[in-house]
This record gives sequence, C-alpha cells and structure tokens, in this order.
Amino acid sequence: MLQYACDLSTLQSKNKVRLMINNRPVLLVISDGLPFAIADKCPHQGYSLFTGKYDNGIIACKEHGLQIDVRTGKIVNPLKAAALRMDESEHTIKTYELFVENDKVYFVL
Ligand code: FES
Repeated sequence: MLQYACDLSTLQSKNKVRLMINNRPVLLVISDGLPFAIADKCPHQGYSLFTGKYDNGIIACKEHGLQIDVRTGKIVNPLKAAALRMDESEHTIKTYELFVENDKVYFVL
C-alpha cells in the first residue's frame, strides 16, 4: 500500500521535511537527488532530528551531536555514541521505504 508523503519538488526546495506517518514523526530528506525517510527520533534521548544540521546524507542531532546516515539509519560516529553510553543495539534508527512517481513521494506500507 502506498501513502502520499509530499511532492519531491517541495522536498528538494526545503531540503528536509517532517511529517507524521501512523502517528509517528518521520524525517524526509534528499540525498543525491533521491528521497530518504527515517524516524524523527534521536536514538539517544528521543529528541527530534529535524532541527539538526543536514548535509550530504548525514543528519546531526543538535542536542549532543550524534550523526546518522539517512540512507542506512546507522550512526556514523560510534565513538560519540559510546561517549553517550549508548548500547550497540541503539545504533540503528528505523528507515522507511519510499516510492516516487510523477513528482510525488509515497511511503510503501
Ligand atoms: S538526543 Fe540526540 S544526541 Fe542526544
């Protein structure tokens, strides 16, 4: 089942978009022209990632600097995660499958 998320052109112009899917916050971003979606909830203390700096596929949580690759959902600075006393089971964040057609981005549910 597909669920409309946003227009690809809107995502390209805004760089990142936050929306709700199944009552959960999701962050959508563009990387190399393709949209990606991850849970908008930092795996450290649960703050929104939307307010963090986004660059080249990496979102940085503005609270304590954890960096997450939006393409894989994996933490890319594990030493920071270790300093924050995070367990390895918390090093991956939920990603969402997307589908694009005619400038429309959809969640694949
Ligand atoms: S809440 Fe995101 S790094 Fe601490």
